[in-house]
Amino acid sequence: MRRAKISIIGAGNVGATCAHWAASKELGDIVLIDIPEIEVTKPDGTKEKVPFTMPAGKALDLYEASPVEGYDSKIIGTSDYSKTADSDVVIVTAGIARKPGMSRDDLIATNTKIVREVAQNVAKHSPKAIMIVVSNPLDAMVYVAWKASGFPTNQIIGQAGVLDAARYRSFLAEEIGCSVEDVQALLLGGHGDDMVPLPRYTFAGGIPIAQLVKKERLEQIVQRARDGGAEIVKLLKTGSAYYAPAAATVQMAEAIIKDKKRILPCAAYCEKEYGVGGYFVGVPCVLGTNGVERVIQIELDDNEKKAFQTSVDHVKELVKTVKL
Ligand code: APR
Repeated sequence: MRRAKISIIGAGNVGATCAHWAASKELGDIVLIDIPEIEVTKPDGTKEKVPFTMPAGKALDLYEASPVEGYDSKIIGTSDYSKTADSDVVIVTAGIARKPGMSRDDLIATNTKIVREVAQNVAKHSPKAIMIVVSNPLDAMVYVAWKASGFPTNQIIGQAGVLDAARYRSFLAEEIGCSVEDVQALLLGGHGDDMVPLPRYTFAGGIPIAQLVKKERLEQIVQRARDGGAEIVKLLKTGSAYYAPAAATVQMAEAIIKDKKRILPCAAYCEKEYGVGGYFVGVPCVLGTNGVERVIQIELDDNEKKAFQTSVDHVKELVKTVKL
């Protein structure tokens, strides 16, 4: 039987951590891709371009851990997309973080260029792959990847909801004093600030959350989950979250590779669904071999509909700022 092949574009913190988790779950062979060269400053102050060997270093290090951890995966790091050919799943984490003095629009412009180029390369070498986009701003980058790849919509998914729900679930488990495994939660809408939590669809061990956590406390927990990315940035000081984003991404990859038909909240293309009209927004999806196999439409009450619509409007505004 052929092993599954997973390519990860961007071998930074999120990409390398995805590789680590995918290897430890023995999901398949892994290719880590990054840029070919970086600019370094020499002792005399002049700059020169040197080959960027970091992805090869991380891949080799991870491969050397395999006899200890017991996974049989080939792991390579390169800038050569031909090595990604015929991947089953491609995870896109390439991009730059916002730098001081950089506006949000500058960041979108830079990451649009990067994600566009990446998606074109993915489409060329792995036309049948399911592409999971992680690069931020997520709701815009997943749209860019779709347009640039020309992929059918089931082949493109954004990672957002699994991470937001994981943050929410972990804080709820802490509050209730129960296992994190027993907390089930569903979120809709955009990523982070724009997420729409649904307390009516949140349970711990099958018990509706409203019976376990007071309304005011639940609101505080929702807010903490919403600000989850910023809380980590503040603590790390030199970067953004990567363990939880990578774990969330690998859960999606696993559902696809093993054709598990898991129902996970993901940024999926919605046309008629929820009346979205052609954007990627967070909705419950069935994930299997064909990527997004189904978007599940759930019943929303008036308040939930309103919150979802506000979130969708934000996603549309964000996508409008993208210059393809
Ligand atoms: N092709 C391939 N890789 C690229 C490209 C490109 N065109 N441009 C940049 N990269 C690489 C960088 O060289 C870097 O190694 O993407 C990697 C990004 O890694 P980090 O800077 O460590 O960022 P990380 O924390 O991994 O976050 C990546 O995921 O969660 C999101 O907001 C986060 O958008 C960010 C992305």
